[in-house]
Amino acid sequence: MSFPKEFLWGGAVAAHQLEGGWQDGGKGLSVADVMTVAEGDNDATKQRKITESVLPDHYYPNHEAIDFYHHYKEDIALLAKMGFKAFRTSIAWTRIFPNGDDEQPNEEGLKFYDDLFDEMLKYNMEPVVTLCHFELPLNLVKKYGGFRNRKVVDMFVKFAVTCFKRYENKVKYWITFNEINNQADVNFEFTAFTNSGVLYKEGENRYQTLYQVTHHEFLASAKAVIEGHKINPDFQIGCMLAVNPIYPETCNPMNQIAQVKELDTRLFFYGDVHCRGHYPAYILKLWEKEGIEVKMEDGDLEILDKGKVDYISFSYYQSLVTKWDETAKKPVRTKNSYVKASDWGWQIDPVGLRYTLNILSERYELPLFIVENGIGLHEPMTTEEIQDDSRIAYFAEHIAQVKKAVEDDGVALMGYLTWGPIDIVSAGTGEMEKRYGFIYVDKDNKGNGNLTRRPKKSFYWYKKVIASNGEDLAN
Ligand code: BG6
Repeated sequence: MSFPKEFLWGGAVAAHQLEGGWQDGGKGLSVADVMTVAEGDNDATKQRKITESVLPDHYYPNHEAIDFYHHYKEDIALLAKMGFKAFRTSIAWTRIFPNGDDEQPNEEGLKFYDDLFDEMLKYNMEPVVTLCHFELPLNLVKKYGGFRNRKVVDMFVKFAVTCFKRYENKVKYWITFNEINNQADVNFEFTAFTNSGVLYKEGENRYQTLYQVTHHEFLASAKAVIEGHKINPDFQIGCMLAVNPIYPETCNPMNQIAQVKELDTRLFFYGDVHCRGHYPAYILKLWEKEGIEVKMEDGDLEILDKGKVDYISFSYYQSLVTKWDETAKKPVRTKNSYVKASDWGWQIDPVGLRYTLNILSERYELPLFIVENGIGLHEPMTTEEIQDDSRIAYFAEHIAQVKKAVEDDGVALMGYLTWGPIDIVSAGTGEMEKRYGFIYVDKDNKGNGNLTRRPKKSFYWYKKVIASNGEDLAN
């Protein structure tokens, strides 16, 4: 058997993408509540609009999402039917501290997650909980500038400690920040907002902002790790990286340098600080050359060192390719002719997942946890069972590579969670019709539909995969 007996099979979501109930139970407004559905005909590039507040005549898909807030018992029962051993969700910060800077937590919000975790535990489903998954309180953006402001570090830590104490006996696996590195591309304004509550100002040096913001997030994460371990030494507290392995286009030596540069600044920098507890030489040199000055206080570096994570969780959807551009003197992206792409232009590369597991395992020698993997598909509304054979093929090929990483390469892996086991709102585009689920939800991009849940063919397939502990991948 390649997977250990206690291997955590299951799925993952984020609160804002499925809960709905945006004004229920004393919840405050989060950044996700002011984002519309992306428009445009190019699936690969369309982006969501961010409005200053909730405006009339705008449709905000996260307000209702799939109304998990009121359907969670039914939904957890369906996941349990598939045999889920773990379910990852996030705690909406705005249910606990509606404005982010409130003195006291909101009891109704705390109670909701008590009930949700109890429901999972009833089925022996291990909760895996992300503290910050693209849902900062909007008030922290407006009043403090999000994580630009050092004050927000302690607000996050207060939120984390409140959750650690309240759910001490229900939750063992924690994740501090979701995909902390996906804001590395500063041309992409959307991720600065969703990850960190940052709205770039006209003409500002975005890299200066990025590195200051991430210093604050590293500190917040490390402080949470330190405090969490004081509350319960058995807690497993991890970081979360968006991993897109980046291959050099050819064996041209300069393309290897392009790969190193890209991986360092987009991935390893974040993993290195979280796992090794200090800033790596390549980034200190980059700051020096670019004139970036990150404000730190006495004791910060010690906190980073003491607050190293217990494990690395990551998402994997696609791989990328880079080459050195001699004119621009920097790496540029190019297509991979060896792999196909999804309808949204995401390059499908199962072997890239094995590659990812190897590079992370070798570099950090920490347990790994795949907490997101999956494919978004167009699946028209129908009353028939959806025959999602392409999803089944996607998962079968990825799990086969995970197996090789564990069996042949010696990677220590805690579990495998698929993204969006039930159809939810897409984070990137706000679409409902970018469907990842084993369970279909009757709702479209405009909010039409009666929210009925229906298992797809893949539901029964994944159930069999879990029951056989990953041995039976046949369709
Ligand atoms: C990850 C996020 O980036 O990818 C999720 O952690 C997100 O929140 C997932 O939903 C898939 O991306 P998208 O844009 O297809 O929803």
